[in-house]
Amino acid sequence: MSNNLIEVKNLKKTFGGLTAVDIENLTFNENELTSIIGPNGAGKTTFFDLISGFQNSDNGDIYLNDKDISNFQPYKIARMGMVRTFQLTKVFDRMTVLENLLFSGSEISNESLFKSIIKSKSQKNYEEHLRDKARDIMDELNILHMEDSYARELSGGQKKLLELARSIINEPEILLLDEPLAGVNPKLAEDILSLIKKLSNKGITILMVEHNIEAVMKISDRIVVLAEGSLIADGNPNDIRTDTNVIEAYLGKDND
Ligand SMILES: Nc1ncnc2c1ncn2[C@@H]1O[C@H](COP(=O)(O)OP(=O)(O)O)[C@@H](O)[C@H]1O
Ligand SMILES: [Mg+2]
Repeated sequence: MSNNLIEVKNLKKTFGGLTAVDIENLTFNENELTSIIGPNGAGKTTFFDLISGFQNSDNGDIYLNDKDISNFQPYKIARMGMVRTFQLTKVFDRMTVLENLLFSGSEISNESLFKSIIKSKSQKNYEEHLRDKARDIMDELNILHMEDSYARELSGGQKKLLELARSIINEPEILLLDEPLAGVNPKLAEDILSLIKKLSNKGITILMVEHNIEAVMKISDRIVVLAEGSLIADGNPNDIRTDTNVIEAYLGKDND
């Protein structure tokens, strides 16, 4: 069995005359925490959009566990175990925190949830099971006290937590996190970071786009650097820190 969980080949996406993503070959390994960094407009979010099915590529192949998933619908990819969060959070403002979680939990039925339905034999037990699971996750993320608050009442950072909670309720194999620390206060950022590390230690493969370089250096097993849609560096945090291409890309460009 290969441990290349995700593999992309000749992946290309353009918007009019602009090349947003142009990557010849890139693989991600099982159980690794990889950060994807690069100046604004480097194509990081577009790359996530492509591999999670939110945008169709112009060209190229995307494999998940050796299966070609190019241009699959997002829900299908999520059911296969690859789940993403968004740079701008997408929570249901008019639902409570708990309802947000129950909704996500019932949306995707993966194998483990399916097994729990069979085991519990009744819908009522299934709902109770889901509710318990949602409460465990809220507890772990310190948002249990807000379970009955409407999502719209949450701060930006708390919404990030809720989105993270929603993404893990279906026990994904792979998590794609788009700027999980953006707009989050330093204390909450620490919490989110240690949660991400914990999820990684549990065996979830994580790809994280993040601008907070200090955080990236601290928790990543590997760092992939994009600039103007292309791969310019790939290595462990120490390699990347001293890579001249990387330094040039950041210094030469407007990097918020
Ligand atoms: N829907 C779109 N239409 C046109 N251009 C887009 C669209 N999405 C992204 N782009 C452009 O593609 C490039 C890469 O964007 P993006 O993937 O969001 O970069 P990053 O996440 O690295 O900041 C940018 O130049 C951006 O303006
Ligand atoms: Mg982005």
